[in-house]
Amino acid sequence: MTTRILTGITTTGTPHLGNYAGAIRPAIVASRDPQADSFYFLADYHALIKCDDPARIQRSRLEIAATWLACGLDADKATFYRQSDIPEIPELTWLLTCVSAKGLLNRAHAYKASVDKNVEAGEDPDAGVTMGLYSYPVLMAADILMFNAHKVPVGRDQIQHVEMARDIGQRFNHLFGNGKELFTLPEVVIEEDVATLPGLDGRKMSKSYDNTIPLFGSAKQLKDAVARIVTDSRAPGEPKDPDNSHLFTLYQAFSTHEQQAAFRAELLGGLAWGEAKQRLFELLDNELGEARERYHALITRPADLEDILQAGAAKARRIATPFLGELRESVGLRSFREQVQVATEGKKKAAKAARFVSFREDEGFRFRLLDAAGEQLLLSIAFADGKAAGQVTKRLQAEELDLHAELNAFSVRLDGEAVAYSPEFSTDAERDAAMQRLREALAPQE
Ligand code: TRP
Repeated sequence: MTTRILTGITTTGTPHLGNYAGAIRPAIVASRDPQADSFYFLADYHALIKCDDPARIQRSRLEIAATWLACGLDADKATFYRQSDIPEIPELTWLLTCVSAKGLLNRAHAYKASVDKNVEAGEDPDAGVTMGLYSYPVLMAADILMFNAHKVPVGRDQIQHVEMARDIGQRFNHLFGNGKELFTLPEVVIEEDVATLPGLDGRKMSKSYDNTIPLFGSAKQLKDAVARIVTDSRAPGEPKDPDNSHLFTLYQAFSTHEQQAAFRAELLGGLAWGEAKQRLFELLDNELGEARERYHALITRPADLEDILQAGAAKARRIATPFLGELRESVGLRSFREQVQVATEGKKKAAKAARFVSFREDEGFRFRLLDAAGEQLLLSIAFADGKAAGQVTKRLQAEELDLHAELNAFSVRLDGEAVAYSPEFSTDAERDAAMQRLREALAPQE
């Protein structure tokens, strides 16, 4: 059994070292597990909620796509795509919006934080709050439920959103599943042991603190950033305390145990901070150098990146398109072509892959048997009344099937009489395969 792991990356900024150690590197490692079926995507619709600068949106999507590939994500194994290339996602968002309680979304942290800030400032509670921000968790639920993800690795600030996705998915299953689990309910994964890196000033590395180390700047930019790491004022020769130095913490995130032990001993032995920074720079440059080259090669070939992401979108849509079709059906958005009275055989029967639909015409009552995709498997003879047709559909589901090849089609008999016919096939092999499919479709299900 493979586990489907899905996570999104909001495309507003440029990835920094903290994103790399905390999210990108562990995600790529996880995607290499043979049991993992990873879906990683650029959450660019989410980015629009936070940012109205088109140039920045575009730049960030490009940079983040290039970063993940440069860091070693295998786009053939994982499914790597842009959210905005999957039109099924906003469509699903609407279906989910219609079952999401407003009260649930009132409780979302991001929305509540904005309201609290407004109230504190004496403003209207909803000042500056868009429907995008308010509905953010529903869009995220659609991202997750669209692909029936089992596990969703996220930062702590996103736990609530994954829980909301579960709530919304459960509600939809209950309303429209007819006893079937339409959506897999996702589980949140918080990686306890991944590094939360300190930034230059020792606080958590974050764009909002302006204390980041760029991931794929030039070697010079990397060196300059490392030089700005804040240290204490101990002079060269004085022992340094590694456990109270975020420079050491940064070093730890990228080194082996032996390297760490050696560096610790050097610091305790009075290594100058300038030297220590040089050691850290070399370590990072060594870890990132090759990926940096790949990154710059990718960034200068945006058309190639476009191709990779389009291929990812096509792969994702091979799942999303038919699944959305099923969901549309489930809520009652169906083709009129088969607009007939659906044989209601109770909730259990509806879970079957194939379904009977009966209809009335001049000669009497007939039924069709359709497979899960709506293809016709059988068309019945005309019966005098609906009841007779209904009895035949019941018997076909309960009794052993009596099939007879008839030229390029086949018939189904009850008590020796043909009661329904298959469509015509161009070859015997096709006809025989259809007989087999019919047997499977009508086999009693556990
Ligand atoms: N909201 C997430 C964040 O800001 C990004 C995201 C969007 C996401 N859709 C998702 C994460 C689906 C996991 C699953 O980090």
